[in-house]
Amino acid sequence: MCGIVGYVGEKRAAPLLLDGLRRLEYRGYDSAGLAMITPTEGGGYELNVIRRVGFVAELVKAVPENLAGRAGVGHTRWATHGAVTEANAHPHVDSTGRIAVIHNGIIENFASLRAHLEEEEGVKFRSETDSEVLAHLVRKFYTGDPLEAVRSALAVVTGTWGVAVVFADHADLIIASRNGSPLVVGKGDGETFLASDPHALANYTRSIVYLEDREIVKITREGWEISRLDGRPVSHAIEELGIELGSSEKGSFPHFMLKEIHEQPESLSRCLLGRVVPETGGAKLGGFDLTPREIVAIRRLGILGCGTSFHAGLVGATAMEQLARLPAFAEIASEFRYRNPVISADDLFLAVSQSGETADTLGAIQEAQTKGGRVMGVVNVVGSTIARTCGRGVYVHSGPEIAVASTKAFTSQVAALLVASLMFGRSRMLGPGEGRAFGADLLAVPGRMASWLDANATSHTGPIVDAVELLVNARFVFFLGRGVSAAVAMEGALKLKEVAYIPCMSYPAAEMKHGPIALIDKQTPVVAIVPDDQMRDKTLSNVQEVRARGARVILIHTEGDTEAAQLAEVAIAVPRASALITPLLSVLPLQLFAYRAGLALGRDIDRPRNLAKSVTVE
Ligand code: G6P
Repeated sequence: MCGIVGYVGEKRAAPLLLDGLRRLEYRGYDSAGLAMITPTEGGGYELNVIRRVGFVAELVKAVPENLAGRAGVGHTRWATHGAVTEANAHPHVDSTGRIAVIHNGIIENFASLRAHLEEEEGVKFRSETDSEVLAHLVRKFYTGDPLEAVRSALAVVTGTWGVAVVFADHADLIIASRNGSPLVVGKGDGETFLASDPHALANYTRSIVYLEDREIVKITREGWEISRLDGRPVSHAIEELGIELGSSEKGSFPHFMLKEIHEQPESLSRCLLGRVVPETGGAKLGGFDLTPREIVAIRRLGILGCGTSFHAGLVGATAMEQLARLPAFAEIASEFRYRNPVISADDLFLAVSQSGETADTLGAIQEAQTKGGRVMGVVNVVGSTIARTCGRGVYVHSGPEIAVASTKAFTSQVAALLVASLMFGRSRMLGPGEGRAFGADLLAVPGRMASWLDANATSHTGPIVDAVELLVNARFVFFLGRGVSAAVAMEGALKLKEVAYIPCMSYPAAEMKHGPIALIDKQTPVVAIVPDDQMRDKTLSNVQEVRARGARVILIHTEGDTEAAQLAEVAIAVPRASALITPLLSVLPLQLFAYRAGLALGRDIDRPRNLAKSVTVE
């Protein structure tokens, strides 16, 4: 979603800001801009604001090669209030053109503030955004002290913000503040950086400080001073930005999505490393910091997340019930947070998030915490807001996931939840033999994944190619599965929508006959996920039902299950695994369907339209 970068130092700021914006591109955005504090011939300074609709590459073309200025801010915008136009792109400037603001988040009372500024102050607004009010408010309160002007402006605002402000009168200064939208400052040698995502800073500094909500920071080339918005001073110890596991470069792959699909054996191994303990048949997740006695005392487990992370949670909840006999549910975070959920002290919640910044998930965590629930994170991005808000939890160690459509984070999230289920299971219901067998099966997955990907991911003929041909020509596609495979079906349908924009839906296989079956005609491709588990025969009956209505069946089945394969127009075999582990393998063809269908239809694979990687608004 929206991204912020800032720089104050000795170097020319424009190339650094543009590089930072490029590193934030993966988050999803639709326009980009920067504001530079540039020297004038008269010895003063002015603001130079350049904005473009589209990719950062368009902005790069528009920025003069030798644009002067050693301080500035840059922004990528993901539209909320107002269409995707240059006028709505950030930075927004005040009426004098000497104050520029970039903003992530939503100003909830912008309509009344705007009316007030128009009527009482005679301000002429130039955009439809909520953010522009900030520029005019800062101007209204500016009497020569930039920090106090921003502080006063934010005092009349309600909503969420990560905001950065530059002033032409102060060539060596950025004022920034955070409330619900992340910001991090980074220390260099005679230079200071600002970003909404530490990923943007990784090339320049590893010494960083995360701002907390309702803090404001004065940034100069010498460093920063942080205080609360209410004026109290604060000091944060500098943290060391961890070395990113895995690379955020595309290498020889044409797209990040394909690279990340291929990285799964490696990212999964990292996630499992040292966590499955064959000797005891159990598992160890140090970050959970739970004794067996505490695990036994848990009465209910809730898994919260959005999008792909929610789908991983569905698998996790089933695994918890089956392995640990612990009542468990997964719920979409944005629904959970507003339904006034009943929470008791012996409930445990797991918040699953790749980015660790998803506003809906963060809101759900806060709701659970407010009601006395314990929440632990299952997060990929180290140091992210969700990881810090939960305090305890596990990192899934996927490494940077750049493509908007999540692939390797999904399999690592599922694996982390399976490991947690094994750990909880051993303290509750599971014997050492069963635990050992499950652990061994889990540890075998990366190797099985690697062989499957080697054989299938790049081939120009075979069932994946045949399936994609059916999918790209379809008006509508159905995904069916039961149990954990229903979650896989949901994930497959989500991928195909996200990357290829093909209308599709997923349904638990048996439930389909209660309505959605009416959608099936002779042309409808139905992707059925039918591993050889206890639900196989039942799901195959549902496959027969759609076949009887002329559907074109693409069937994902366990290697060697020729009987199931015979029911399909296109049959795709995946390696055998125990039932709860099958999602790690059956999702692979579905990821490839989305990638290849997107490619065939000429979609922007890594940055699908309208989507954002990190959704920081609710
Ligand atoms: C966005 C992304 C999805 C992701 C979801 C949850 O919608 O486009 O790919 O699954 O957010 O994100 P999180 O970072 O919390 O896992």
